[in-house]
Amino acid sequence: MSEFDQLYREVILDHYKNPRGHGVIEGADAEADGQNPLCGDEVSIYVSFGEDDTIEDVKFSGRGCAISQASTSMLMEMVKGRSAHEVATMSKDDLLEEVGIPLTPIRLKCALLGLWTLKVALHKGKGTPLPEEAAGLDDLSLN
Ligand code: FES
Repeated sequence: MSEFDQLYREVILDHYKNPRGHGVIEGADAEADGQNPLCGDEVSIYVSFGEDDTIEDVKFSGRGCAISQASTSMLMEMVKGRSAHEVATMSKDDLLEEVGIPLTPIRLKCALLGLWTLKVALHKGKGTPLPEEAAGLDDLSLN
């Protein structure tokens, strides 16, 4: 493993052990639940909006593998303070770049569970469009 991969692995582990934005927002403006039926792992995302459609606060709860939890933790840091419409158009590659290590198709579902769930929450709260690439939703169950 290269030093670079090692570094990314450490970052992932750190997010897994000390997840950022972990918790529940009581009375959130929008929330959504996502589950990966392959393993039963799940994530719930809560969003509060500020002026216009700014994501003032965002949190997640749930349980799952290191990749799903760490990538959702990274996602929380990436989207807080940004506009819902901007985040709704964020591509999966933006998040995958942050995750930083190559992933098999199975692990890709883990990594994207939080992002698709967040997009569903934004859709519910602000009517933002769901992206085409999430239309089949990769066999994840989202609501
Ligand atoms: Fe379940 Fe990763 S193994 S989300």
